[in-house]
Amino acid sequence: MERLQGRVAIITGGASGIGAATAKRFAAEGASVIVADLQTDLGAEIAAATGGLFHELDVADDAAWARLMAVVWRRFGRLDVVVNNAGIVSGQSIEDIDLATWNRVIEVNLTGVMLGCRHGISTMRKNPQGSGGALINIASTAAYAAIPSDAAYSATKSAVRMLTKAVAAHCARSGYAIRCNSLHPGATDTPILRPALDAAPHLLPVFHAMSPMGRMGRPEEIAAMAVFLASEEASYVTGGEFLVDGGMMAGHPGM
Ligand SMILES: NC(=O)c1ccc[n+]([C@@H]2O[C@H](COP(=O)([O-])OP(=O)(O)OC[C@H]3O[C@@H](n4cnc5c(N)ncnc54)[C@H](O)[C@@H]3O)[C@@H](O)[C@H]2O)c1
Repeated sequence: MERLQGRVAIITGGASGIGAATAKRFAAEGASVIVADLQTDLGAEIAAATGGLFHELDVADDAAWARLMAVVWRRFGRLDVVVNNAGIVSGQSIEDIDLATWNRVIEVNLTGVMLGCRHGISTMRKNPQGSGGALINIASTAAYAAIPSDAAYSATKSAVRMLTKAVAAHCARSGYAIRCNSLHPGATDTPILRPALDAAPHLLPVFHAMSPMGRMGRPEEIAAMAVFLASEEASYVTGGEFLVDGGMMAGHPGM
C-alpha cells in the first residue's frame, strides 16, 4: 500500500463520490492529499479523514487555481498529481437547455479540467527533481455514447477526452515527464445521480442494468484506476483513455 508514497496530489471534487474515494485511497497509498471542492463542510471532513488539507476551489476560477497552487507550493514544495474530477450534470436535453446552464456545465466540466491541467503543468515543471507528474481527467462513458437527456454533459465529457490527448502529446513533445490520461467511469453509485433518482426512482434498476455485470460501479473501483494512472507503474502511459464501466461500452444492452 505504498504506491504513491511521498506524492502530493490535488483532487478536485474530492468532497464527495468518486473524488472522496480517490482522496481516501491516495492517502492509504502514502500520498499527501489536497481536497479541492466548493463544498466546505464535506470537503474538510474528507480531508481530515485522509490526514490531508482542504482548499475551497471553484474549478472554473482561474485566479482561485493560482491561489491553490501557491498554497500547495508553500506547504509541500512539489506537486505530483492533479485529479480533475469535479463535475456537474444539467439533466437537460438540447430542447430544454438554457444558455446559463449550458455555460456553467462547460465552465465546470471542460474549462475546469483545462485550468487544472494548465496550472498543474506550470507547477509540476518546477518540481525539485525536474518536471514530472500525472494529470488524470475524469471523463465518462458519455464521451462515447451520449446521454440524450444531458446534451451539455455529453459534449463536455467528449471534449475532455480530446483535451487530454492534446495535453499529453504537448507535454511529451516538450520533454516534460508529465503524463495525462482520461478515466471514463460508467454509472457509478454517487450523489451526482441523486437528482435523477429522486425525480424518477424507477431509474435505479436501469442504472444497474446499464452494465453487463448488472450493477453500478462503486467509487472505490474508479479510484483504483486513478491510483494506477498516478503511480510509477503507468510511467509509459499517456494520452490514453481508460474505461471503468463493468463492460458497459463492450456490447449493446440486451442483445
Ligand atoms: N457517478 C457517475 O455515474 C459518473 C459516471 C461517469 C463520470 N462521472 C464523473 O465523475 C466525476 C465525479 O462525480 P461523482 O459521481 O463523484 O459526483 P459527486 O456529485 O458525488 O461529486 C462531485 C463533486 O464535485 C464538486 N464540484 C462541483 N462543481 C465544482 C466546482 N465548480 N468546483 C469544485 N468542485 C466542484 C461537488 O461539490 C462534489 O463534491 C464527475 O466529473 C462526473 O461527471 C460520474
